[in-house]
Amino acid sequence: KVSPQIAAPLLAWYDANARSLPWRAPPGSPPPDPYRVWLSEVMLQQTTVAAVRPRFESWVARWPTLADFAEASDDDVMAAWAGLGYYARARNLLKCARAVAADHGGRFPDTEAALRALPGLGDYTAAAVAAIAFGRRAVVVDANVKRVVTRLFADDGGNIRALADSITPDDRAGDFAQAMMDLGSSICTPRAPKCLLCPLREDCAGFATGDPEAYPAKKAK
Ligand code: ADE
Repeated sequence: KVSPQIAAPLLAWYDANARSLPWRAPPGSPPPDPYRVWLSEVMLQQTTVAAVRPRFESWVARWPTLADFAEASDDDVMAAWAGLGYYARARNLLKCARAVAADHGGRFPDTEAALRALPGLGDYTAAAVAAIAFGRRAVVVDANVKRVVTRLFADDGGNIRALADSITPDDRAGDFAQAMMDLGSSICTPRAPKCLLCPLREDCAGFATGDPEAYPAKKAK
């Protein structure tokens, strides 16, 4: 049984170790512009943090606000996306920006459900924007979070969403989500996780088994 008090040590770790990234607010400070959160989360869906960082910077230099971006031409946006791959993401970004401008007075709606209804926002992006940009309690599950959660609970193929939900705090849900992602990319790595540096080691059922790498379980063929 994993302690429901996972959030406290994880957030303390994040306060000391959060990566400084151009779309982030420092831990514990007011949330960043929803436009920047949304844009970064979409860019990060199939592209690494290292590759996204410079592209994000030049993008927001060119289109600093959602209103600026909503007026961009299709051609300019497709050209600006060059090299990031999966061009449907760029088309959906513009569709979404225009919908927010036309239907929401130029401001992103601030609930997970309303965000989910926007063009191109799936479960992941809606939850990430709700938590990170609006401080809503939302359960954010990407590949890093999935790995951390399956190890914490030594879970083989159960309901990862429900497990993630069970440890998500009411406060600082955005920092919590990003802390899980940072933990997954720096410590709870796919190979050779650095358990001795992990703030959750004492609560981790996967660590207790002696073979945390066994999680997440490989899919049956
Ligand atoms: N990957 C996807 N979203 C991220 C975020 N907000 N911080 C770090 N890595 C991420």
